[in-house]
Amino acid sequence: MTDAPDSNLPDNLPDAARRVADAVRLDRVQARLDALAQIGGTPDGGVDRPAFSDAEREVTALFAGWCAELGLTVTYDDFGNLFASSDGNAAGGVTHAAGSHLDSVPNGGRYDGALGCVAALETVEAMGDAVFAPVAPFEIVVWRAEEPYRFAQGRVGSLICAGSLTVDDLVPRDPTFDVRPYLAAEARETRATRPRRAAGRGFASLLELHIEQGRRLEASGGHIGVVTAVSSTRRLCLTFTGVADHSGATPMELRRDALLAAAEVALATERVAQEEPLAESVATAVAISATPGAMNVVPGGAELLLDIRSTDPDAISRMAVKIGGVAQDMTEGRGVAVGVETLMRGDPVRFDAAVVAEIEATARALGYTAERMASGAGHDTQSMAHLTRAGMLFVPSRGGISHNPAEYTAPDEIERGVRTLAAVWARRVL
Ligand code: HGY
Ligand code: MN
Ligand code: MN
Repeated sequence: MTDAPDSNLPDNLPDAARRVADAVRLDRVQARLDALAQIGGTPDGGVDRPAFSDAEREVTALFAGWCAELGLTVTYDDFGNLFASSDGNAAGGVTHAAGSHLDSVPNGGRYDGALGCVAALETVEAMGDAVFAPVAPFEIVVWRAEEPYRFAQGRVGSLICAGSLTVDDLVPRDPTFDVRPYLAAEARETRATRPRRAAGRGFASLLELHIEQGRRLEASGGHIGVVTAVSSTRRLCLTFTGVADHSGATPMELRRDALLAAAEVALATERVAQEEPLAESVATAVAISATPGAMNVVPGGAELLLDIRSTDPDAISRMAVKIGGVAQDMTEGRGVAVGVETLMRGDPVRFDAAVVAEIEATARALGYTAERMASGAGHDTQSMAHLTRAGMLFVPSRGGISHNPAEYTAPDEIERGVRTLAAVWARRVL
């Protein structure tokens, strides 16, 4: 899904914004990305930083220290989202913000989320270097638990901040994990160690630089992806109940095998998504498990987790209904009962056309190519899109690889992304 470029938007870039972009230093960005990647680093060069872990606490403290060194006021909300503001965390303050997340998927890449956080920090430092006197207040935000690592839901911190989710809604992936003691312990911390975000604060705008995590920019040779829309996700847990039986003594025709029922639905998930016209309509069987898992027992129980996405809400519903229908038909044929639980649902977003045009024009004014594109990956900025002027920009991912230690974006691509973010953000606080 792409929109026609807005050719009549002036490509003029205010001189102050260009000075901030010119003050961006790639060496600082790379050094900070390297420092972050050491925390929760894995032997094969990835990062493993689940929310509510020692690694997450350490990486957040490091980043908070960098923000404080730049004179920003660091605070946290009750869920642990980090806010580093230029207006001293004034009650009722409204800021132009930029940021992303620092948590990761299991053994993920070093750029997913981290690049957006470091780019925001670099912009603030570049504003200082460019002797740039912002008029409007600005803020860096680090959203907590963006990745569905700790919980079935993703974008948790931003959805809670937006009022779209509560802690009680959370579905931990490990049923023994309870987030409440963590939050209670953090709530007991003094304001000295954990300053609280003031009441009534909000965003005048919100930006996020992110790696594309797809193949589009690399294929086109494009510099900057200007995000027009972001897919949403529906996550389902299908529970299959058959009959555990002796794997040697039970004739094939008498079996009520829960694992095979789940396997058939997993394959149907792929088929249902392939029937969809939109490239952004995808569905994934992300995990399958069976019980009791003994070597001589026909599985009596199975669980299948599905991740269904599209930029078209009707496509999400259509795929979910089709998959549910396949599950019902197939389980009747196998004598296996099926239950469906919705773990996460949301609506795709389209960013404000004027914001899309502004990012596009700014990238071009810096001499970069800019192409409009939808995002199949979810991002925190989409959680806030109904509350503020939100926008996103992408830089290429080598081979489209992400959520993988091999995730990589080249230095010149990083520099173009950070300079573009800096220029867009600077023109908002001029
Ligand atoms: O799940 C997502 O789309 C994102 O990578 N958290
Ligand atoms: Mn991710
Ligand atoms: Mn991300």
